[in-house]
Amino acid sequence: MQTSSSDNTAIHVADEAATVVVSGIQPSGILHIGNYFGALRQHIKLHTQHEAYYFIVNYHALTSLKDAEAMKQYTLDVALDYLALGFDPEKATLFVQSDVPQVTELAWIFYNLTPVSQLEKGVSYKDKIAQGLSPNAGLLNYPVLQAADILIYGGSLVPVGADQKQHIEITRDLAQRFNQTFCPKDAPVFPVPEPYILDEVSVVPGVDGRKMSKSYGNTIGIFDEGKPLKKKVMRIVTDSTPVEDPKDPEKDNVFALIKLFADEASKERIEQAYREGGYGYGHAKKELLGFINEYFAEARERRHDLSNRMDYVMDVLQEGGKRAREKAESYMERVRECTGLITTKR
Ligand code: TYM
Repeated sequence: MQTSSSDNTAIHVADEAATVVVSGIQPSGILHIGNYFGALRQHIKLHTQHEAYYFIVNYHALTSLKDAEAMKQYTLDVALDYLALGFDPEKATLFVQSDVPQVTELAWIFYNLTPVSQLEKGVSYKDKIAQGLSPNAGLLNYPVLQAADILIYGGSLVPVGADQKQHIEITRDLAQRFNQTFCPKDAPVFPVPEPYILDEVSVVPGVDGRKMSKSYGNTIGIFDEGKPLKKKVMRIVTDSTPVEDPKDPEKDNVFALIKLFADEASKERIEQAYREGGYGYGHAKKELLGFINEYFAEARERRHDLSNRMDYVMDVLQEGGKRAREKAESYMERVRECTGLITTKR
């Protein structure tokens, strides 16, 4: 039985054999350690245990990124990141969202089942508008496309960070609404998926203490190295307690990041040093830098090697796209049948 936790509630996916893991990441900037601990690490862990589909969601990224060269570069960067971090293309499917055009077809069908008022209440939508993005239809409908992403492969388990909870709720609503509206009671098309959110890493803080996010400019990249990495770590905001005074590790951004990387013994040692005093934030930052360098050392090497083998990376995406289209098409045949959308070309 697969167990995850969300909202401190254990979720049990009863039929493990039928678990299909799906998730996506936007190619809208370089991936950061929030993406890694909130989602990617779980993607890598789960992809050898279940049927899994991971997609680089370039249609979603269009809502914020309008630069073709950057879009192409970030898309390949995300593929490199997955492979460097241990994704095995023999075990699961990695592909580019726009290689499966059926996903926009399903999104259109879902639009007709989605109250505009539900989308207008979207936390992520409101947050992006507050950041100055234009309230265009793509941004408003973002969660509907995400639901199509998940359901078109029969996704039942969705590893994501806590910020995606509401989007998974909308996906669950749409799966149920579609099944109730169009399917016979005993033959629903879509499973109702569960989020897979690990409480302890559900919101990774950025260098300014807010949620780490590409759009806040407060990230530490997974593959940042050398001086740029050091600069970012040294910029982490702390309070001004003097070195010799005791400090509360639970209130500090540096310790929040140390907890992600350090083993139990190091965590305990550093926590005690905070509480005793005589251990400054400068010490903590230096230690954090060491942990990051050690944690990603192997992946960095693999990424350097892979970046000289871009033909291989393209092959992985091409093969992944083919597999994903087949799976998506098998769902779409049933969707078209249920909705009465006859096709004459097949
Ligand atoms: P994106 O690219 O914004 O984020 C990718 C994943 O990283 C998680 N994440 C974080 N987790 C913890 N702490 C943080 N500071 C942090 N920042 C980001 C996000 O929760 C996410 O899991 N809407 C999705 C993309 C998407 C998708 C899907 C996901 C499109 N279709 C279908 C799952 C299933 C997103 O937020 O991407």
